[in-house]
Amino acid sequence: MEASRKGILMKVNLKVKRFDPDDSSGKTWWQEYNIDTHQDSTVLDALIHVREYEDTSLALRCACRASICGSCGMKVNGSAKLVCKTRVVEIAPNGESIVIEPMGNHPVIKDLVVSLDTFFNQIKRVNPYLQPDHVPQTGEYIASNESMENLLTAMNCIMCGCCVSDCTVLEVDDNFIGPAALAKAWRFVDDPRDSKRIERLKDLNDEDGGFWDCTRCMQCVEVCPKGVDPMGRIMELRDIALNNGLTNTYGAKHASAVSNHIEHSGRIDEFRLPLESKGIFNIKEIIKLMLPGLRFALRKRAPSPLHFKNPNQKFVKTLFKKVEK
Ligand code: SF4
Ligand code: FES
Repeated sequence: MEASRKGILMKVNLKVKRFDPDDSSGKTWWQEYNIDTHQDSTVLDALIHVREYEDTSLALRCACRASICGSCGMKVNGSAKLVCKTRVVEIAPNGESIVIEPMGNHPVIKDLVVSLDTFFNQIKRVNPYLQPDHVPQTGEYIASNESMENLLTAMNCIMCGCCVSDCTVLEVDDNFIGPAALAKAWRFVDDPRDSKRIERLKDLNDEDGGFWDCTRCMQCVEVCPKGVDPMGRIMELRDIALNNGLTNTYGAKHASAVSNHIEHSGRIDEFRLPLESKGIFNIKEIIKLMLPGLRFALRKRAPSPLHFKNPNQKFVKTLFKKVEK
């Protein structure tokens, strides 16, 4: 993509985060590249241009250049994207700077290249393969088209790691299984040929890192380039677990307390919610809640023990019933 090439329409400024593993100080720095680019260029085209003609030391990873292989995930202007699917003109139509960093929540190997070891270890945690209860005597395992249609979007996952990159829970808790692995788990939980549905749900229902740790921030939904909707899949896992009687976790108790409060008074009872989530008779956990509770009380920010009904309670009840249906 030489500057003299016919059809050049715009200049672009790329601000790239650099990291050199051979530099023992471990420092990172920003480097700017000003290049000419064609209107149809993707951010990946622009980066490849930099590597070919401006700075051969720049490290980046890509393969298919067609949003299929999942290897070019990076942060562009603060959110994870496949750079082969992101056109320069769409994010910098007037030649604005484009800020490019390696994906978040993945260890950086060099410049824009991250290690996916943790990502694939998370995927392995959910046993991402079918576990049927019998081997067909002849031929393949057959599932009807209708029973598989539901799984198609989840099966579109290309393991790019974008959802993991922008997951706000993983930023503070690296034990969380993460959106991609949970979406993968849902795909097998909902597969009619799998025989380990309940075992899978029990594992993921675990307090520590399981599906109740998702805070529904929606970041994974926004950045997924394949419409997998990992958060939606996580919410479905929760529903399936509850419908299968797996209710003995703080997450499940919390969800059922929220639902009861809304149904009965049209609003959440902030005072009772933490108590009911932990279990009213769970003395050990209730004692643990007392210290932060006291701190809130001293700052006059503790919720009132008096709970008042929502004046629009009837309307909320009607909505609640509709949602339940
Ligand atoms: Fe990428 Fe979407 Fe799969 Fe996450 S769920 S790894 S964002 S394709
Ligand atoms: Fe394959 Fe971008 S290079 S998905």
